[in-house]
Amino acid sequence: MTDQAIKWWQKAVVYQVYPRSFQDTNHDGIGDLQGIIQHLDYLQKLGVDVIWLNPIYRSPNDDNGYDISDYQEIASDFGTMADFEELLKAAHDKGLKIIMDLVVNHTSDEHAWFKESRSNTTNKYRDFYFWRVGNAGNPPNNWDSAFGGSAWKYDEQTKEYYLHTFSTKQPDLNWENPQMRQSIYDMMNWWLKKGVDGFRMDVINQISKLPGLPDGPLKPHSKFGDARVTNGPKVHDYLQEMNREVLSKKDIMTVGETHGITPDDGVKYAGFDRQELNMVFEFQHLRLDNSQHGFGKWSTRKTSLVELKKVINNWQVALKDKAWNSLFWNNHDTPRAVSRFGNDSEQYRDVSAKMLATCLHLLQGTPYIYQGEELGMTNAHFKNLADYRDIETLNAYQDIVTKSHLLTNDDMMQRIEANSRDNSRTPMQWNTLVNAGFSDVTLWIKVNPNYSTIKVDAALVDKNSTWYYYQKLITLRHDYPLVTLGDFKLLLADDPNIFMYQRHWQGQTWLVICNFTEQTLNCPVNEYLNGREQQIISNYADDQHNNLRPYESKVYSM
Ligand code: GLC
Ligand code: CA
Repeated sequence: MTDQAIKWWQKAVVYQVYPRSFQDTNHDGIGDLQGIIQHLDYLQKLGVDVIWLNPIYRSPNDDNGYDISDYQEIASDFGTMADFEELLKAAHDKGLKIIMDLVVNHTSDEHAWFKESRSNTTNKYRDFYFWRVGNAGNPPNNWDSAFGGSAWKYDEQTKEYYLHTFSTKQPDLNWENPQMRQSIYDMMNWWLKKGVDGFRMDVINQISKLPGLPDGPLKPHSKFGDARVTNGPKVHDYLQEMNREVLSKKDIMTVGETHGITPDDGVKYAGFDRQELNMVFEFQHLRLDNSQHGFGKWSTRKTSLVELKKVINNWQVALKDKAWNSLFWNNHDTPRAVSRFGNDSEQYRDVSAKMLATCLHLLQGTPYIYQGEELGMTNAHFKNLADYRDIETLNAYQDIVTKSHLLTNDDMMQRIEANSRDNSRTPMQWNTLVNAGFSDVTLWIKVNPNYSTIKVDAALVDKNSTWYYYQKLITLRHDYPLVTLGDFKLLLADDPNIFMYQRHWQGQTWLVICNFTEQTLNCPVNEYLNGREQQIISNYADDQHNNLRPYESKVYSM
């Protein structure tokens, strides 16, 4: 690829805003669009190019906005369409793009289509969803919902079941229906006409279901990535059609959320010549600490660095020249990266957050920063179930502890503390005012008590902060084509402590070295340097060359 041929989104850094937890401006304890407008300067200063907004559409909020009751209205919690237009314009004026979350595997059960669909078996919207008669009083098949229990709910009105692979308030749309698909494309075109710059597509590889909806193997608590509902036979036809009808019409960016895919699948979804998506979020690297059996994500395993490197290497190599990677350590569904892969103790939090950033941002692909990651924000460490809000967490507790007594309260609470999605959903930490400056009233979810030390205002006055380190990494990406285009080569693949790789482009080589442990290690750097190297960035002030101090990361150019 030449420098000229590359697309804007290949050079971009994306910042994910979880609007509910970013900034409240109207004193209701919930973040809002005016709050995002207030902080556009902040994002511009950080240097990011694109903002991805989690869903801001009208929603009864059974799953924090991923249950949409009107795709073309703004949730009143967040503001009005006028606020959105103001945000879009203000962002564009600052050179920032905005991509929207697109949730079209399912709607809310309060969406007008579903209300019609549910009303009688002959309604013209009936077939927009999956309705089936039961099996002698049981659901039509044995599929589980990702949030626990059967994926089918019986509906009194017409005495049939509807499919919901997530909560009962998130009925799955039937992509077999051409009118349904056209309605979705019309809605997407409407947003593009408004000027949005692209879409992040929620669980997009689940839109094509297996014909006949057959029983699948029973996998208790497996959650997500289930072969019964992912990568169905027509998913690529649908995405190619969507590309023809919508995506190809404007110079936008798209990223699909795709659980349960391999690098080969990734090349299909995001291949340069496939006319589908620009890139996908794969989850292999975030599933290595799941338990192999039993409780899925509710596990206490640690990710092995050797396995992590293997997965990342597979993706870097398989997509090279064929497709494009997205790079991320965390999002609104995961624990905080520094608590999970680094070390959130007072001693090592800052240095390990910088190390993780170095490791990720110098790979090939488009990096995503989840709000607060640039401060090294940590897991919430809430000990009481009453402090959690997430439907997945609350349902899992019900299933595993209350109903089936598979784990004790204490055991499950530890797993929740490590893995709950609410870890990433606590409010953004701006300053030491009440509630971290997020809001001055009772909040929808508690703020992390560590905001007295981890906060924006302190980060901005300390030139050595994690924040400025992210800013520098973003600048490196913008300044050096090698970061976008360079070949990737993994070194020391079997080393259990060090993540080391080279990037190579037009006679220039960068060496990236990251210590993932709190030990001081000996590192054979000289073998890979030529004596004329220069240090590009490091999270320690001086260079001890062969010595790698706890969580040290450094980058040399040759
Ligand atoms: C995706 C979203 C998650 C949501 C689910 C159902 O995984 O990221 O937050 O609960 O889809 O829409
Ligand atoms: Ca508000």
